[in-house]
Amino acid sequence: MSNSHQLKRVDFIFRNENDWKKVLSSTLKRKPAELINELISSELKGRGGAGFPTGLKWKLTSEEKSEEKYIICNADEGEPGTFKDREILSKVPCKVLTAMAVCGHVIGAKKGFIYLRGEYKYLEPELKKAIDEFEYYCKEIDFDFSISIFMGSGAYICGEETALLESMEGRRGEPRNKPPFPSQHGYLGKPTVVNNVETLVHAFTIFKYGAKKFYDLGVQYSRGTKLFSVSGDTPKPGIYELELGMSLQDFVYEFGDGDTKAVQVGGASGFLVPRKKFKDAAIGFKGKLTGISLPTGGSMMLFNSSRSMFNVLDNYLEFFSEESCGQCTPCRVGCQQLLLGIKAVKRGDKPAAYLDKLMRLTETMQLTAKCGLGQSVANSFSSIVENFREEMIY
Ligand SMILES: Cc1cc2nc3c(=O)[nH]c(=O)nc-3n(C[C@H](O)[C@H](O)[C@H](O)COP(=O)(O)O)c2cc1C
Repeated sequence: MSNSHQLKRVDFIFRNENDWKKVLSSTLKRKPAELINELISSELKGRGGAGFPTGLKWKLTSEEKSEEKYIICNADEGEPGTFKDREILSKVPCKVLTAMAVCGHVIGAKKGFIYLRGEYKYLEPELKKAIDEFEYYCKEIDFDFSISIFMGSGAYICGEETALLESMEGRRGEPRNKPPFPSQHGYLGKPTVVNNVETLVHAFTIFKYGAKKFYDLGVQYSRGTKLFSVSGDTPKPGIYELELGMSLQDFVYEFGDGDTKAVQVGGASGFLVPRKKFKDAAIGFKGKLTGISLPTGGSMMLFNSSRSMFNVLDNYLEFFSEESCGQCTPCRVGCQQLLLGIKAVKRGDKPAAYLDKLMRLTETMQLTAKCGLGQSVANSFSSIVENFREEMIY
């Protein structure tokens, strides 16, 4: 990934297009295998954080033998600092619904769900109207597909795809063991595609304009565009669609306030990058890259020199302690101990060397926690403590 990549704004996602009916009817005429190939050649990777190749996910689910299959749009959007999915759903819902229906055609599903974050309840009435209009059109073109909204209840863990499935099935939102993956054993035990809202909108773009248009944007291993939720110490907070692969230096040049000391990329579960590393850090998925590659679900928080990085870490650890589902010990106990630990060091009740012990605890959590929640606490913890150690100590 080149570090001299220029920051380039793009406008695919919110472009005001009222042609979803045309896109839907023409795409449904194409063969599932052809559509899978289109997605695979676009190299679209999931925008929910993990970056799994979307074409492969649809292919694997299409190959499962089952009369019943499902497509679920993950609109839980719980990562701190991320607020792009709600914009997509309020501004261009029919693009998302179209991609869900095309996914249904590809994998052989007649039913889709939108798992909507509890705090986004206010989006429900308008979304229902869009679904009604969408289903009406599906009937007109004789395509058997329906979509329902499932309201979440405000738990961060329910954004994790298998905890989401548990919650939809009426149980506590706790992650399942993987394998089997949702593509084999998903909602009600049936093969299921779970895709982020933004991933589905990109699929719409690809079906409308062709894979090449998407592939030609971005850089190797990180193709296409991404929506970024920009917040913190910036004169320009908001949502921006940008090409993947930009350097953090270019990003800060565009969005910083002239005094940016660090950027948290990827929310509380992401990484903190200090000013001295901006030049070497590029935003994109991991691959054989030079420099630091930073995957993100889209949360970009800027901090200037008025901010205490101890307070930032304290805040993230409060969040993780509160949101850990408690199912596995490394995460349940680890989050609490990290929070108590940094407070004790800050008060002077523990020596500075205790931070190294806490770092080893995060490594253990990374290796032993059951899901991405506990595994990713190490990201922000180690990147903040390594780069701003002096702010952790009294
Ligand atoms: C703790 C945790 C929370 C998550 N929250 C979300 C979320 O709010 N939205 C989302 O799309 N994916 C979230 N994910 C990722 C999902 O498990 C899953 O990878 C994603 O929905 C797959 O869609 P994609 O392939 O389109 O990215 C979360 C993962 C973890 C571990």
